[in-house]
Amino acid sequence: ARVAVVVPAAGRGERLGGGVPKALRPLGGRPMLVHAVQSLATAELVSQIVVAAPPTLVEVVSRLLGPDVRVLPGGAERIDSVRGALRALDDDIRVVLVHDAARPLTPPSLVDAVARAVLGGLPAVIPVLTLADTVKEVDADGRVLRTPPRGGLRAVQTPQGFRREVLEAAYTSSDGDGPAVTDDAGLVERLGVPVATIPGSDEAFKVTRPADLVFAEALLTRRPL
Ligand code: C5P
Repeated sequence: ARVAVVVPAAGRGERLGGGVPKALRPLGGRPMLVHAVQSLATAELVSQIVVAAPPTLVEVVSRLLGPDVRVLPGGAERIDSVRGALRALDDDIRVVLVHDAARPLTPPSLVDAVARAVLGGLPAVIPVLTLADTVKEVDADGRVLRTPPRGGLRAVQTPQGFRREVLEAAYTSSDGDGPAVTDDAGLVERLGVPVATIPGSDEAFKVTRPADLVFAEALLTRRPL
């Protein structure tokens, strides 16, 4: 069964600043997206990669990633970018991973671990980490409502992996959720499909704020090339 990865990379990256779409921010001299796609291409089980790029930059991104990567214009929200990319999958793809361009240092071994878990029969698999910080639920004014026990919480990373028909059903049945949908498994959960977790990786963190770039640069210099 062939495995594809869909990469939403069409975000503006406003929290990061800098005026460049986040996926194209350089890290060690190369755009984050190039690092992310290289990790996916290095994974043993991945056979197709589809990238949703900022609409005005499709040509630029396509040239950066080379002929083996399909590049399409992304949508207004992440959910639209993923939905569009799903339509470009090859017919024989059975397993689909969705991976943020904003996680440039994700180890190929994590990509393969997610793919292997779905190929092994699980309908949906996500990599997770336990939390270092305590988390509070707050109201609109920032007043604390409650403190969920930390032991039962996980921070969720990507790639998230799905049987193709499960992810397609999730995207078909969801419409207009827009910004409320922050991960793909969230859509799948609504279908009542069980979502399994596997251990994530510290290196699969999402570059979101300026300090994350500093951390990513530091990690890169310590990596063997
Ligand atoms: O904003 P956030 O960091 O959650 O974005 C996660 C991923 O979704 C990023 O890789 C971003 O480029 C992508 N995205 C997208 N299309 C959008 C918004 C975000 O592909 N319209």
